[in-house]
Amino acid sequence: MITIKSEREIELMRHAGMLVSKMHKFIKPYIKEGITTKELDKLCEDFIRKNDATPTELGYEGYPASICASANDTVVHGIPDNYKLKNGDIITIDVVIGYKGYQGDAAWTYAVGKIDENKKYLMEHTEKALYEGIKMVKPGNRIGDISHAVETYAKAHNLGVVRELCGHGIGQEMHEDPDVPNYGTPNTGAKLKPGMVICIEPMLTFGERYIYIMDDDWTIKTEDGSDAAHYEHTVLVTETGYEILTPRLED
Ligand code: MF3
Ligand code: CO
Repeated sequence: MITIKSEREIELMRHAGMLVSKMHKFIKPYIKEGITTKELDKLCEDFIRKNDATPTELGYEGYPASICASANDTVVHGIPDNYKLKNGDIITIDVVIGYKGYQGDAAWTYAVGKIDENKKYLMEHTEKALYEGIKMVKPGNRIGDISHAVETYAKAHNLGVVRELCGHGIGQEMHEDPDVPNYGTPNTGAKLKPGMVICIEPMLTFGERYIYIMDDDWTIKTEDGSDAAHYEHTVLVTETGYEILTPRLED
């Protein structure tokens, strides 16, 4: 069931989304060579709790941390551990924050120190693919219009589109209907209506699109070892178009 949020609910989701944005801004300066992903997780958890909010990922289906920290060939759901970031890595921080029962969710990929041209290309075009999808958000358009826009942009830039994972509705739960795939057909799927809130989140690879899940049952990596990037926004459907509830503040 796709829920339509009331003005009061939208206000709470704006607040949750803004905390997600602020947490990304807070953590960015710490993303440097030598820090472990576990240290990043602790900093993020403390930040969230200081803001009277809840790290929704912690304990979700047994997930053991407050953020996902996915480096290089890890696509999503990297569990923070003792891995020390190295110069030249890319790392995606994905977080869901709950405020008074409502959720905000956003992921960015960050560069650690100086990264090579291929990684820069992957990051730039994955973020642009996200905005191509967001541009399709307005009442009357359908989920397939978003999916198709993301896929078309990714393919035009020779990036692999991971298909096993997708975006989603969001509200009181971090995952609500509808699914928002990163590939699809225009003019198909659920019709967008004002008050719907969805997460759009292309996961693109520099190589083939195929993935596997590691023995920890969470970490998802590219099969061919190529790098992956992931950008995600929480987006409200408005009367005339969209509002990004997780705006980027950090640069
Ligand atoms: N933030 C992810 C998403 O975009 C979900 C994380 S799953 C968790 O849907 F287990 F890590 F919480
Ligand atoms: Co997310």
